Amino acid sequence: MHPSDLGPYDPLALPDTAPGERPTIATACGKVILLGEHSVVYGEPALAAPLSPLRLSVVLAPGEDGVRIELDDGAPEGASTSVSRALAAAAAELDLGLPLPLRVAVRTGGLRSGMGTSAALGVALGRALLLWHGEEPDDARVLAAAEAVERLFHGNPSGVDHTVSALEAPLWFRKGETPDPLTGLPALHFALLRRGSAASTAEIVAGVRERLGADSALVRTVARMGRVAEDGLEAWERGDVAAFGEAMTAQQAALDGLGVVAPSDRDGIDVALGAGAVAAKITGAGMGGSLLALAEDAVGAGRVVDAWGAGALAFAVGDPG
Ligand code: MEV
Repeated sequence: MHPSDLGPYDPLALPDTAPGERPTIATACGKVILLGEHSVVYGEPALAAPLSPLRLSVVLAPGEDGVRIELDDGAPEGASTSVSRALAAAAAELDLGLPLPLRVAVRTGGLRSGMGTSAALGVALGRALLLWHGEEPDDARVLAAAEAVERLFHGNPSGVDHTVSALEAPLWFRKGETPDPLTGLPALHFALLRRGSAASTAEIVAGVRERLGADSALVRTVARMGRVAEDGLEAWERGDVAAFGEAMTAQQAALDGLGVVAPSDRDGIDVALGAGAVAAKITGAGMGGSLLALAEDAVGAGRVVDAWGAGALAFAVGDPG
């Protein structure tokens, strides 16, 4: 049975079993970056939103020997070691003993490359560990645990992925600043193509850093991406779908200039535009990961989903009313 099939579950409400002796379930949502991936690493602002229906889940349960990790069928090689290291990093950051012996089940809940899987893992592990020890999974501690996990996998992350996952709100995010949750904005309709990619986010980000060091024109590209993100936010605030689309198109061109767009990304974007999308771009680190398309409305988003086929889904961000 999938953990999400178990329904709402509050381990703190089981008074007959001590913390640490009862199974604990925690989940965390994926994220989508609407504008500002990569430039956000260099202090430029990004717009990002949670993907609440797509949730990674973690179950901690008393085990028999050491740490036993259980993953989705077909999980990539090395995933088990990654989860063990993430668990240890989160426990150390929270100053909580690693509860041994332990069974750890992780289900990715439909998250794929570019959708914040490692960030959701960090958030869910932080929540699960705190609940296991009978403590409240407050945002500040969960964010700290998730950041420790992100550092493990990505070296120097901007923080946008795990912040959106933990706060589960659309955010105007700038590295090192208190994020600004966005409320009362008109709905924007998107299609998302979820794709698995073998490319590592850490390596893609490192490649961008290298190219920036070698080409000062790219430093100006990154600064321009920040201004485009600001234009995008203003367009969203006035409900101007075409202008938001222009911001996405401009960022896609900039991301191509940064060297993070693969031929298969360009093909997928052409399919979306051919199906009537207002604009389309990579979302997340790129290089064959997930793609995002903006549509006029929910019907338009549905057309892009049909054109993309398997792995595509439609969602809206903002106030439906
Ligand atoms: C990855 O989802 C987003 C990047 O901007 C990296 C980061 O923000 O740390 C590529």
